[in-house]
Amino acid sequence: MPILIKNIKELVQVEESPRPKVAGKEMSELNTIRNAWLLIRGDRIADFGHSSRIPAGIEDGNNVEVIDASGKMVFPCFCDSHTHLVYAGSREIEYIDKIKGLSYEEIARRGGGILNSAKKLHQASEKELIEQALTRLQEIMMLGTGAVEIKSGYGLTVEDELKMLRVIKKLKTLSPITIVPTFLGAHAIPAEYQNRRGEYVDMVIYEMIPQVASEGLADFIDVFCDRGFFTTDETDRILLAGMKYGLRAKIHANELDYSGGIQVGVKYNALSVDHLEYTGNSEIKCLKESMTMPTILPGAAFFLELPQAPVRKMINAGLPVALASDFNPGSSPSGNMQFILSLGCIKYKMLPEEAINAVTINGAYAMGLSEEYGSIARGKIANLFISKPIPTYEFMPYAFGSNKVETAILNGEIVKWRNSEIAKS
Ligand code: NIG
Ligand code: FE
Repeated sequence: MPILIKNIKELVQVEESPRPKVAGKEMSELNTIRNAWLLIRGDRIADFGHSSRIPAGIEDGNNVEVIDASGKMVFPCFCDSHTHLVYAGSREIEYIDKIKGLSYEEIARRGGGILNSAKKLHQASEKELIEQALTRLQEIMMLGTGAVEIKSGYGLTVEDELKMLRVIKKLKTLSPITIVPTFLGAHAIPAEYQNRRGEYVDMVIYEMIPQVASEGLADFIDVFCDRGFFTTDETDRILLAGMKYGLRAKIHANELDYSGGIQVGVKYNALSVDHLEYTGNSEIKCLKESMTMPTILPGAAFFLELPQAPVRKMINAGLPVALASDFNPGSSPSGNMQFILSLGCIKYKMLPEEAINAVTINGAYAMGLSEEYGSIARGKIANLFISKPIPTYEFMPYAFGSNKVETAILNGEIVKWRNSEIAKS
């Protein structure tokens, strides 16, 4: 049955002519309609407008489910373009080591970090991984996320990378959230390959990529290109191999150093380069000449206390910016995009309008989804949420720490929260 949402206090991020992304000055513009209605038919946004011009006939029929949103706002769902949310268990013990003064790289060198998660993932069954991931998906949907990218990368063997990607594929059938899978075999060098890293890179290229592609398990390919992880030469080889199999690049870059990751990503026309704490003038120039979305992960920078990526400088230079959660057990154990929105404003000095664009339309672009997601536009997928009563849209980033989402609608259907039932299925 069609859904009519009426008396919307403010309909946020409305587009008459949808754009694939917004950049530079445009990022501070956010179209809204105060006192609005919105009609959903099937899984699409059919129409919307000001309450004074509600088309006759819509409300009188019995065939419309009417939601009264008085005092509440409607936003497009968040598009979280970078997560590792399929993982086994958690790593709070390393977090204590971190509090005591060890760095992310020191923890990794001691066999903690990604290798620790790989060990846990190896021991977990697919069913356990699915249950844990469904709980996390449920949580992020309740917090307003409607589309999410999920990476492999805690497998680090052919079998376990495929196991992770099959779990991600299964999640697509079990959850109403839209999921985009990315292959990240080159997340870390396993301990037994430490002295023969070339062999691990060859395994990624000659064994993992062909199998991932032949089973159609991923849309994108990622490499953790940074100091202490994969070099630019290794990244170059892996991205080239991935492209031959139709996997577009979307990489971790410049989190720990001026590693050259941004440049190698742009060289292969990466859809996004992510993290970017170490971004200088030459990296900004390189990004300006590309179609690559610079993506900032404020949760990881917050949790690891990294330097701030120069977001203001990037936007002032005319670049687009996306914000994503990086939900993972080691550097960002939260997928709360409302918190990411707040961090964008507080830590990176983004205006609320810029941050909202960064977590919606630009996040959608960074997953290749912006034709159908990321804004309120006729014909786009009806992935949106109704807020709790809030005074202004600026309240969203301002009131950090509480959930301002009341009702999530994904693919035109109201999401029902059935935690225990979902976990059992
Ligand atoms: O994006 N930087 C690399 N990978 C993840 C961390 C993964 C982990 O520590 O488990 C990140 O921060
Ligand atoms: Fe990451």
